[in-house]
Amino acid sequence: MRALVAGATGATGRRIVAELLRREMPVRAGVRDLAKGRQMLPPSVELVAIDVTEPRSLRAAVADCTVLLCATGARPSWNVTEPWAVDCCGTQNLVDVAKVAGIDHFVLVSSLCVSQLFHPLNLFWFILYWKKQAELYLQNSGLNYTIVRPGGLLNDPIPGGLVIQGADTLFEGRIPRQQVARVCVEALYQPAARQKIVEIITRPEQPESPPEVWFSQVPVASHQ
Ligand SMILES: NC(=O)c1ccc[n+]([C@@H]2O[C@H](COP(=O)([O-])OP(=O)(O)OC[C@H]3O[C@@H](n4cnc5c(N)ncnc54)[C@H](OP(=O)(O)O)[C@@H]3O)[C@@H](O)[C@H]2O)c1
Repeated sequence: MRALVAGATGATGRRIVAELLRREMPVRAGVRDLAKGRQMLPPSVELVAIDVTEPRSLRAAVADCTVLLCATGARPSWNVTEPWAVDCCGTQNLVDVAKVAGIDHFVLVSSLCVSQLFHPLNLFWFILYWKKQAELYLQNSGLNYTIVRPGGLLNDPIPGGLVIQGADTLFEGRIPRQQVARVCVEALYQPAARQKIVEIITRPEQPESPPEVWFSQVPVASHQ
């Protein structure tokens, strides 16, 4: 496997890069700003300049890669079109180039509650709505995929075990970004992760479970 990580300078993306390297997978980091990428990411990582809103920048980036992990997300902004451009069209652009390149597995970091139109997070220019449209596009693309919907993201670990369930079953909770990165990377190695939407949080009372059972307990996603 060789991985392209889109959003590799993000707080989750850079943890995905680190988790892939821990497993000795060759990684190409897709970053908007090469200087920032060089400063943030380990020197062994190959960097490539991408902007997901510019399809031309993505074609060369994906070449020779076999798996693609997308951890992009609109940065907070007054630009009302940003979540549409990044979280919807940008992800759709990645799906399109992944199909042409014959990517074997596409892992998308999405969010809990994307199916709830009246969720307060949609006050940020309908970001959940646009993430859901990107999910549907990926689901209908014919690619092998795993959609990972985390709860509120934390930079530091918290005690507790991973709760992993199917689509539209969890509505609140938090999870360290490191745990999200582990789930995203583990999905590449588990056949049971394919064609699934997994919702993830951590709970203090939840016992630790081995990665081998994480995905097998979640049903295959329905196509909408
Ligand atoms: N925050 C939460 O509690 C929460 C909860 C659930 C789900 N999520 C979702 O989880 C994902 C990861 O969140 P995070 O907080 O770790 O992300 P983040 O730190 O905000 O990073 C976002 C990444 O997306 C990149 N990006 C933005 N626009 C781009 C574009 N046009 N082309 C290429 N890359 C672009 C950013 O690049 P630059 O570094 O160049 O800006 C950055 O690498 C996001 O989709 C987020 O919406 C977040």
